[in-house]
Amino acid sequence: MPLRTPLQYAHTHLNRHMAELLDFLRIPSISTQPERTPDVHRAADWLAESLRHAGLEHVQVIATQRHPLVYADWLHAGPEKPTVLIYGHYDVQPAEPLALWHTPPFEPVVIDDYIYARGAADDKGQAYIHVKAVEAFLQGSGRLPVNVKFIMEGEEESGGESLAAFVPQQTALLAADVAVISDTAMVSKDVPAIVYGLRGMCYILMDLTGPGRDLHSGGFGGGINNPINALGHLLARLKDEEGHILIPGFYDKVRPLSAEERAVLAKFPLDEAAWLAETGAPAAWGEPEYTLVERLGARPTLDVNGVIGGYTGPGSKTVLPSTVHAKISMRLVPDQDPLEVRDLFCRYVESLLPPSIKVTFTFRGGAPASITDYNTPAVKAAERAYATVFGREPVLMREGGSIPVVGLFQQHLGVETVLMGFGLPDDKIHAPNERFYVPNYVRGIQTVIHFLAGLDVPGSMA
Ligand code: BES
Ligand code: ZN
Repeated sequence: MPLRTPLQYAHTHLNRHMAELLDFLRIPSISTQPERTPDVHRAADWLAESLRHAGLEHVQVIATQRHPLVYADWLHAGPEKPTVLIYGHYDVQPAEPLALWHTPPFEPVVIDDYIYARGAADDKGQAYIHVKAVEAFLQGSGRLPVNVKFIMEGEEESGGESLAAFVPQQTALLAADVAVISDTAMVSKDVPAIVYGLRGMCYILMDLTGPGRDLHSGGFGGGINNPINALGHLLARLKDEEGHILIPGFYDKVRPLSAEERAVLAKFPLDEAAWLAETGAPAAWGEPEYTLVERLGARPTLDVNGVIGGYTGPGSKTVLPSTVHAKISMRLVPDQDPLEVRDLFCRYVESLLPPSIKVTFTFRGGAPASITDYNTPAVKAAERAYATVFGREPVLMREGGSIPVVGLFQQHLGVETVLMGFGLPDDKIHAPNERFYVPNYVRGIQTVIHFLAGLDVPGSMA
């Protein structure tokens, strides 16, 4: 299929495609804030309308227990052609702290080639690239080189339970040969990246209780255990000083890094000094037998995300507190199972605590890690597409963050995902002044046009 027509279409309609993205960004679809629910629904309706205008069929806003899913397809390329499942999320993170934004988060502006708005890069801008690439084919050429299905989510940033329930129930609707997601970052403006590994998640809230109420630390100290002191002992035994996690069995299922993979990761062009400067930390840290790149994407972690307890007001108060709360997240790698890790964690903690302290756990979400095969025709097609548009082949990398749907697609649909990112490392996702680099929006649409056409190589998806 000649690509001149869709590429020309994308070029001719660029101003409108920009204006539409800005409209999408004006909708404050913050999935975690209940008062924004009407906005989340409005964003779903807006996206559905846009998919209809692009020429997609069977466009549906699918109600769930929480936020809607949006589905659409175009399946007229022919049964011998591959089917591509395109995923994106139309929900965004909260914009707080608002005072740190230079321009209002839901009033997008373009300054020096960047669109500033919450969701600009994560993920509205990147998701919309696919809608516009498909439109360029359908409106420009009247057809697509492959069959296409869209599934767009409104809860990625806040749990994703609805999609996790939907995917196993709708395997026929979502059946595809390959999935593609743009929700990750490139290495730099000139160096594109394909992410082939994402970490999973196991998040646990822990409440430790000693006495039934706060006590005078003189009257009772020495006779009653203090849950904050006990937490200190506990945390010190979860991880050693070099970053090795001490939970028995924690590493049992961790798939060892192959020599081939270590070689791939060693090629990743990370400027360690610049990376460290960006963090503001005095030195890097972590398991000495692994490189920094390996530790950031290919090794599991355990981090205390927050601790609440005791007297934290001004001055001093001599108190023996009743309780302490800790929030703990573990980023997982293949083949760790989030529920198994949860059980190992809870059992170990219980074994360490003395009878003077009681503990309760609340599990706050789990997702397995995902590793996708990068020796597939679809990854090759993505590499060729990036090379054509960006003038160089993408780097293969593992990402430390999580996109839970990748594991769901593998597990329930048997489908591998190509993670074609168009963000940049300094897009400030989840932070004030989030932005998206306009040339990457333009080149992203072109890259996806080349990618979809590149999948239509005889036998390519066998
Ligand atoms: N788009 C991000 C994932 C990501 C982060 C990709 C950094 C590339 C670089 C995604 O929207 C996200 O933030 N996911 C959460 C998932 C979690 C709540 C299960 C994450 O990783 O914390
Ligand atoms: Zn995202």
